[in-house]
Amino acid sequence: MASFLIFSLFCTAALCISSSLAQASFRPKALVLPVTKDSSTLRYPTRINQRTPLVPVSLTLDLGGQFLWVDCEKGYVSSTYHPARCRSPQCNLAGLTACVVSTNTCGLTPDNAIIRTATFGDLGSDIVSFQSTDGKKPGRVVSQPNFLFVCSPTFLLEGLAAGVKGMAGLASAYTEGDASSEYFIRVKSIKINEKVVPLNTNLLSINKTDGYGGTKISTVNPFTVLETSIYNAVVKAFVNQLSGIPRVASVAPFGACFSSKNIGGTRVGPAVSQIDLVLQNESVYRRIFGANSMVQSAVSAIVDRTYYTLNAAQLL
Ligand SMILES: *[C@@H]1O[C@H](CO)[C@@H](O)[C@H](O)[C@H]1NC(C)=O
Ligand SMILES: *[C@@H]1O[C@H](CO)[C@@H](O)[C@H](O)[C@H]1NC(C)=O
Repeated sequence: MASFLIFSLFCTAALCISSSLAQASFRPKALVLPVTKDSSTLRYPTRINQRTPLVPVSLTLDLGGQFLWVDCEKGYVSSTYHPARCRSPQCNLAGLTACVVSTNTCGLTPDNAIIRTATFGDLGSDIVSFQSTDGKKPGRVVSQPNFLFVCSPTFLLEGLAAGVKGMAGLASAYTEGDASSEYFIRVKSIKINEKVVPLNTNLLSINKTDGYGGTKISTVNPFTVLETSIYNAVVKAFVNQLSGIPRVASVAPFGACFSSKNIGGTRVGPAVSQIDLVLQNESVYRRIFGANSMVQSAVSAIVDRTYYTLNAAQLL
């Protein structure tokens, strides 16, 4: 299933400042990134065209990532790559005063949120081309000659799908004092089959003192992760709604599993109660049907049978 994400600026403000897009006479309204869902890793690969000669580079989308990072250690060939020199405008714009003296470059810490690993990488720039759009139809391809990104070592690709060469971070620019640069939605309550799940609603908003709480949209977690007390409340309410359907042994990291023999199918997935994330008011909610609330796991090592499990795990 392919979809398209339209974005106005594909990077943080810091890394975009040099990006008055190349053709001064043509300013695209928005740029388009093709996004697919990878069914084996349950993550979102995307693709950019980079380097001279231009080659397609597959990246994993990370809504919470701060910038674009690409493996430069292996197979990076380009005649237009330029490392950002210490105290250059690029380093200053990225807010970097730290320098690697031996190479005279400044650097940042690219991180792979999937394996929760960060490392040091040089800031550099190269040509990147994007498809533009006026919001309705595809427009011309635009090139940005000195698009800033971070060069990472190859090991940071661990956990990413085969062929992926880095991550495209789309978090907004972070400035000190901001609650977060990531994408949060304001969930006010959770309903299962139209009934409010009793839970500590304080946890649904971000606590300004310790930064804990809130609901983040993540492209790196392959399933929903819930704080333990919310997880327990949701699982309890969900299981209650399926009363009469026996649970089967759970399959980590999931807690509520059922045999698919006991649950019928519908056009929107397994016939289970819908889960609503209620947003600003009662009439604005995100409804989750069985197709998204349940995952199918074949546990052939134990019994040759398919299980459905509630697609949610506890926050560790
Ligand atoms: C916010 O966090 C502080 C410090 O952990 C805590 O004392 C306070 O009770 C929390 N507030 C709410 C509304 O949960
Ligand atoms: C709920 O929020 C939506 C969007 O903000 C608004 O259009 C609508 O009038 C609100 N409904 C109620 C009942 O407040």
